[in-house]
Amino acid sequence: MATVSMTVNGKSVSGEVEPRTLLVQFIREQLHLTGTHVGCDTSQCGACVVHVNGDSVKSCTMLAVQADGSDVTTIEGLANGDTLHPMQEAFRDNHGLQCGFCTPGMVMSAVDLLKKNPKPSEGEIREWLEGNICRCTGYHNIVKAVQQAAQA
Ligand code: FES
Ligand code: FES
Repeated sequence: MATVSMTVNGKSVSGEVEPRTLLVQFIREQLHLTGTHVGCDTSQCGACVVHVNGDSVKSCTMLAVQADGSDVTTIEGLANGDTLHPMQEAFRDNHGLQCGFCTPGMVMSAVDLLKKNPKPSEGEIREWLEGNICRCTGYHNIVKAVQQAAQA
């Protein structure tokens, strides 16, 4: 077992993990932050996206020990109390979700996009989100949500 320590949503956390423990397992099973989802076992769906040191990362592709010492933000850390993050509001306003399973990963990826490219074209949004799979919405409203958030 190894001890890992990191900052998650502004709080210092630590835990004992096996070397093979994935970051997403640590987040969900030890920290009980279950907003980060697991939608595949092939690193394709993007439901598990979190921010590690400010960059979006598929947390199923990273070991918990690799995140030791990092600053991690999950979907639970995005809103400010009862005030939704503008990206969350935009998804709600534009019906950018149906079942919601992909939504945490979509939102976390999209927030990172706007940080790196505040005024993306529709094509750039679609290309950025190609690592996030949604089985419900057809993507159209998701793209509209990201465009609204970019304006906000
Ligand atoms: S659970 Fe990480 S990409 Fe699907
Ligand atoms: S809203 Fe259902 S998978 Fe995207």
